[in-house]
Amino acid sequence: MTEPHRPLAVVTGASSGIGLELAREFSRHGFELVVAAEDDGLRAVADALGAEGVQVDLATPAGVEELHARVRHRHVTALALNAGITARSDDLDRELELVDLNCRSLVHLARLLTAEMAAAGRGRVLITASIVEAFPGPHQAAYNASKAFARSFGISLRHELRDHGVSVTVLEPGATDTPIFAKAGQETTILGGDMPKDEPSEVAQQAFEALMAGRETVVAASTLTKATHLVSRFLPDAVTARVSGLLTKPR
Ligand SMILES: NC(=O)c1ccc[n+]([C@@H]2O[C@H](COP(=O)([O-])OP(=O)(O)OC[C@H]3O[C@@H](n4cnc5c(N)ncnc54)[C@H](OP(=O)(O)O)[C@@H]3O)[C@@H](O)[C@H]2O)c1
Repeated sequence: MTEPHRPLAVVTGASSGIGLELAREFSRHGFELVVAAEDDGLRAVADALGAEGVQVDLATPAGVEELHARVRHRHVTALALNAGITARSDDLDRELELVDLNCRSLVHLARLLTAEMAAAGRGRVLITASIVEAFPGPHQAAYNASKAFARSFGISLRHELRDHGVSVTVLEPGATDTPIFAKAGQETTILGGDMPKDEPSEVAQQAFEALMAGRETVVAASTLTKATHLVSRFLPDAVTARVSGLLTKPR
């Protein structure tokens, strides 16, 4: 396995939003970077960060394998599995793409890359879930379910890898100001419209600190987000489903 001069970080979904800010955090802290996303916008981001860009569709096994082939045999110090989409419940094609990206590719990439980290006896993994893991999501049902999947998978992975020198941290952002809602046609919802949102740079900063500290989970970034998550965990599903459904219903 080739040792880079600087620690190597791989960030998926790094062309915008939280992933872009995570990539900036790694860059600021002296990491060599491989960044992945699907669309052409990745090129400008990779150039600006002095990173190696890998343009792949991670919703497909071939895309996951292509990214893996680009980084295998190089020691990956930090891996941020962050690429994700949301989908309205009335868009079946996008819901199925969401399952492929948010769930299937998460497992596929995590298994391929953490096997190499475990063999090397070190590494840090950040998995981007969401505070919506804590409640059902009418009108974006598959999205909330995918984030419950991501959190559970991430914590299990942490326990599987803890004796192999690999630390796994689950990131749970609240509503964050990124293009994710517009891409899914959710601008007409309260969540995708005028609801207050956290800054992706603050989410990324708190995520980076938690990753480096080896924490199990981090809810980021604002006090409102942390309080929402805490309250959601204690309220019955019937209540949280009603409230979250009001925020995600197309108007
Ligand atoms: N924004 C929020 O309120 C919020 C809250 C909690 C959790 N999250 C999670 O945070 C993560 C990042 O989301 P974001 O809000 O920062 O949204 P974003 O700005 O839309 O970023 C999503 C990233 O994923 C990439 N991506 C999407 N489909 C892909 C595919 N098929 N193959 C490869 N890359 C793909 C996008 O690249 P392309 O543009 O090239 O497709 C982009 O770089 C997601 O997992 C999301 O679920 C977001």
